[in-house]
Amino acid sequence: MAVDLLLGLQWGDEGKGKIVDVLTKNYDVIARFQGGPNAGHTLEFDGIKHVLHTIPSGIFHDNAINIVGNGVVIDPVIFKKELENLEPFDIDIKSKLLISRKAHLILPTHRLLDAASEAAKGKAKIGSTLKGIGPTYMDKTGRNGIRVGELELSSWKKTYRSLSNKHEKMIAFYDVDIEYDLGSLEAEFFEAVEYMKQLEFIDSEEYLHQVQKSGKSILAEGAQGSLLDIDFGTYPFVTSSNTTAAGACTGLGVPPNKIGEVFGIFKAYTTRVGSGPFPTELFDEDGETMGRVGNEFGATTGRSRRCGWLDLVALKYAVQVNGVTQLMMMKGDVLSGFEKLKVCTSYNYNGKKIEHLPYSILEENVTPLYKEFPGWEEDLTQLTSESELPENFMSYVSFLEKELEVPISIISVGPDRKQTIHR
Ligand code: GDP
Ligand code: IMO
Ligand code: MG
Repeated sequence: MAVDLLLGLQWGDEGKGKIVDVLTKNYDVIARFQGGPNAGHTLEFDGIKHVLHTIPSGIFHDNAINIVGNGVVIDPVIFKKELENLEPFDIDIKSKLLISRKAHLILPTHRLLDAASEAAKGKAKIGSTLKGIGPTYMDKTGRNGIRVGELELSSWKKTYRSLSNKHEKMIAFYDVDIEYDLGSLEAEFFEAVEYMKQLEFIDSEEYLHQVQKSGKSILAEGAQGSLLDIDFGTYPFVTSSNTTAAGACTGLGVPPNKIGEVFGIFKAYTTRVGSGPFPTELFDEDGETMGRVGNEFGATTGRSRRCGWLDLVALKYAVQVNGVTQLMMMKGDVLSGFEKLKVCTSYNYNGKKIEHLPYSILEENVTPLYKEFPGWEEDLTQLTSESELPENFMSYVSFLEKELEVPISIISVGPDRKQTIHR
């Protein structure tokens, strides 16, 4: 059976966690393919809100096995906390959560290096989540990293020590004011590693191959969003992995010809957390309303998210790069009560009107050009079928479908599992 993918089309936080949870009933395996605890995936049901960072968002269902794939970077300390948060929910974690031996570990010094690198950049900082993501992927591609499988060897602490010593020299080299107590960070790290060893480590590419061969279904869960992709995002203000569809192939060992549906998730407007260009960003009351009504605060860092109108130029690019086959529009409910809505349909790029995403979308090169839409007053959060949705809302949806040339198969009208309209 084909492997379906689910990924974010903007700058992250589109609602991936919610939709993976909604779709899990249709799958035997949910496999996360990249990123690490920089992600914050929120799920809500039965009046409880859960935030997952490393654990796939299918974990609350009995029918599916969850896999942390080789493309993911794991911080054992955060992972342990996530597992502890799940304890009250009576989930058989040992049989339902498997970890790839080829996933890389985030060491305490990776986190410190992230902080040192950001401090050294000053105003030009990326706005990283400071979870050590960049330095860990740098060690992976630099062929210095420590993988989960290494924890099964008695020599791993020696490898750890030598890498950690090197990191300390690198931290000193940055020459920034960072205070740390490595002894206590390491004590916490080693304890978390022991805790993690209760789980089964697997050769996940082989496991997933056998799952496919036996006719079972797999949903690959992405983290971050396409505009944070290391190659196709707004570099250097991006994360350090391939968040786009191809990342699922390398992050799980799934061949491209086995990919089925590509579910692309987007918000009815745009948000971004951290630094970097954002052409449709709003600094007025409309932006403030989106942030307040949409509760736009980072699920990982608590930082307020920057808000703005939907950027169709960027969205088209993401649909194209990922080969999206079905779209899912989230948070349309947040736009209720706006008299007028705007969608950026092209850019003024150094005096020329363009409709594709150029190399640089810095403010000095790009001014967004908008199409206006009449808003709607109705509260959408209690609606359960397409026929109840206001006419102006449906005109907005139809316009986007026509422009993106991909059907919108799910309309989400609230954070809860139940606030989901399938079309
Ligand atoms: P993810 O990183 O893509 O999983 O998204 P986050 O969990 O970081 O951010 C999405 C936020 O929006 C979370 O707080 C969700 O509970 C919430 N959310 C998801 N879908 C909807 C929706 O349709 N309407 C509203 N109002 N909130 C939603
Ligand atoms: P989910 O999966 C939104 C952003 C950070 C920063 C940049 C680099 O919840 O959608 P990093 O820590 O990766 O070095 O940070 O990427 N970022 C996210 N923004 N949602 C995320 O994940 C993000 N993960 C990283 O804010 O701008
Ligand atoms: Mg998030």
